[in-house]
Amino acid sequence: MYPSKSVELRNGKTLLIRPAIPDEAKAILEYVNQIAGESDNLTFGPGEFDKTVDDERKFISKINITQNNIFVVALIENEIVALADIHCGNRPRTKHAGNLGISVKKKYWRLGIGEALMKYLIEWAYNSNIVKKINLEVREDNTAAINLYKKMGFIEEGRISRVLYIKGKFYTTLSMGLEIGD
Ligand SMILES: CC(C)(COP(=O)(O)OP(=O)(O)OC[C@H]1O[C@@H](n2cnc3c(N)ncnc32)[C@H](O)[C@@H]1OP(=O)(O)O)[C@@H](O)C(=O)NCCC(=O)NCCS
Repeated sequence: MYPSKSVELRNGKTLLIRPAIPDEAKAILEYVNQIAGESDNLTFGPGEFDKTVDDERKFISKINITQNNIFVVALIENEIVALADIHCGNRPRTKHAGNLGISVKKKYWRLGIGEALMKYLIEWAYNSNIVKKINLEVREDNTAAINLYKKMGFIEEGRISRVLYIKGKFYTTLSMGLEIGD
C-alpha cells in the first residue's frame, strides 16, 4: 500500500492522507452523498451516485492491487473530509495516462486540503514509474478548481462543449493536463 502522509493545515488541524481501504466503503458513500449536494461542479448530483456499499468495497479492493490507479481519502480526526483519485487505462497503449478527480467537503474549503491532495497524487504518479500523464476535465466556470490545477502545474489543453447538463443548462469543460517525467 502506498504510504500515508500527515499535513499541518491552516487551521492548526492535522490532515491524514492515505489510500482508501475496503472497510471504509460505507463512510465513503456517505461522504459522496453529502458532497453531491454541496457543489454543482461534479458529474453527479444528490442521490445520483448509485453504488452499493458492496460495489464500493470491491472497487477499492481492486484499485489497491493495481500500480497505476489510486483512490485516496483525507481525514481530520477520523472524519473523511476529502477524496481524490487517478484512474489509468488497462491496455499497453493507455496504462500511462490517468484521469484525476478531487473533492473536499464544503466546510473544509480553503484550508489547503485540495493542494495537499494534489501534491500527494502527483508524487504518487512520479513514484509509480508507470503514470506519465495526468488528465482532468473541469467546468470552465469552476475558478477554484482551475486555479488549484494551474497552481499545481496543469495546463489547459482543450475545451469541450455540452459535457455536463445540469438544471436545464449545458456546461463546457476545460481539458487540463500535467506531464509526469520524460
Ligand atoms: C476545488 C476544491 C477541490 C479546492 O479545494 P480546497 O481545499 O478548498 O483548496 P485549497 O485550500 O487547497 O486551495 C488551493 C488553491 O486552489 C485555489 N482556490 C481554492 N479555492 C478557491 C476559490 N474559492 N477561489 C479561487 N481560487 C481558489 C487557489 O489557487 C488556492 O491557492 P491559495 O490558497 O494559494 O490561494 C474544492 O473547492 C472543491 O471540492 N470543490 C467542489 C468539487 C470540485 O469542484 N471538484 C473539482 C471538480 S473538477
